[in-house]
Amino acid sequence: MMPIPLSRPPVDDEIKQAVLAAIDSRQYVLGPQCRQLEAELAAATGVKHAVLTSSATAALWLTLRALGVKAGDEILVPSHTAFPTVEAICLAEATPVFVDADEFYTLDPADAEAKATPRTVGIVPVHLYGQPVDLTAVQDLASRLGLWLLEDCAQAQGAEWNGQRVGSFGRAAVFSFYPSKNLPGMGDGGAVLTSDDEVVARCRRLRDHGRVDRNVHAEIGFNLRFNELQAAALRVLLRRLDAMNGRRRVLAERYARGLAGLSLVLPGERALARHVYHLFVVRTPRRAALAAFLKERGIQTGIHYPIPTHRQPAIERFSPSPLARTERLVEEILTLPMSAGHEDAEIDRVIAAVREFFEA
Ligand SMILES: Cc1ncc(COP(=O)(O)O)c(C=O)c1O
Repeated sequence: MMPIPLSRPPVDDEIKQAVLAAIDSRQYVLGPQCRQLEAELAAATGVKHAVLTSSATAALWLTLRALGVKAGDEILVPSHTAFPTVEAICLAEATPVFVDADEFYTLDPADAEAKATPRTVGIVPVHLYGQPVDLTAVQDLASRLGLWLLEDCAQAQGAEWNGQRVGSFGRAAVFSFYPSKNLPGMGDGGAVLTSDDEVVARCRRLRDHGRVDRNVHAEIGFNLRFNELQAAALRVLLRRLDAMNGRRRVLAERYARGLAGLSLVLPGERALARHVYHLFVVRTPRRAALAAFLKERGIQTGIHYPIPTHRQPAIERFSPSPLARTERLVEEILTLPMSAGHEDAEIDRVIAAVREFFEA
C-alpha cells in the first residue's frame, strides 16, 4: 500500500508554466510578480499592504522592528506555538511572556490579561492549526490595555472570525508559504500584512538593508527579499486558496464523522470561526502507541509540538513559570494527514486504521 504523507503540496502544469514564464522574464528579485502578489494578498486579506519576505519568521522580525520593539519590552505570546513565533520576539530583543492555551489550544485571553504588566507592549496571538484565537476577546484586551496586536497567521491563511479574514484584526499580521501551509510555496516564504502606512514603509526598508535610496541606508536591516519564481507560483495558488481551504474542511468533516465515538478528542471549531485545518490534531493519552500503529500501516503522523516553547533550552534565561494546560496537552496531541491534496480514500484509510487501533 502507498504511504500516506502528512501533507501533499500541489504540483501541476499551470504552476509550472507560471514558474517557467518567471524564469524567462530574467527578473528574479522583487519584480512585477512580487508586486502583483503583494497587491493580491492585501486584497484577499482585506488590508492595504503586503510585504513579501523570505519566511514568516523574517516577517515577524521585520514587523516587531517596525513596531519599534526594544529591549525590556514584554510581549504576550502563547507558549503552544511553533518556535519561530517566540524566536522572532527574542531576536527583536524583547521579552516573551508565555500565555497558557485555552480549550481550543490557542492563547487564553484570561491568562494573557493576568500576565500583562506595565512593560507589556503587545500581543502576538497565533491562529494555531488553522483555527482563529478568540479574536473578540483578544481585540478587547488589546484595546483596554493599549497594546498592539500582531496576528501570527502562519497556519491560518484564509481562516475567518465572524466572517472577517484573519490578518485584518491587528496592527499587522504575518503569513507563511512553507510548502505544507494552506497557501503553499515551493520553498520558504512569508509576508507581512498591514493597513498601517508607517509599518509597511519600515518593513520594506528593513527587508532591503535599511535602504531608502539606491546607495543610502538609513538603518541596519538585512536581506530578507523575495523572488519572482516563488511569487509566480503563489499567484496561481492564491486564486485557489478558498477552494483548497474548502477541501481541507471537507476532509476534516470526513475525519470527524469517521472517528466519532472513539475515546479520542477531535478538533473543535469555535462558534465564530471558519477553521481552515492547516493541521488535523487529535488527542489521546495513548498517543505513542497510536502513532506507532499508524506508522506500521504507512501512515505518517506528527506532533505539533512535543516541547512547549517556554520549555525550550534557548528560553531558559527567561525562567518561565509552568503552564498547566499547555504542558498537559503536548503529551497527548497527534497530527493526522491533512492537506488539500489528500484523496478521500487516503483519509478513509487513516480513519479505518485509527478505528482498528481503538477497537482492538
Ligand atoms: C505559527 C507559526 N509561526 C511562524 C512560523 C514560521 O514560519 P516560516 O517557516 O515561514 O518561517 C511557523 C512555521 O511553522 C508557524 O507554524
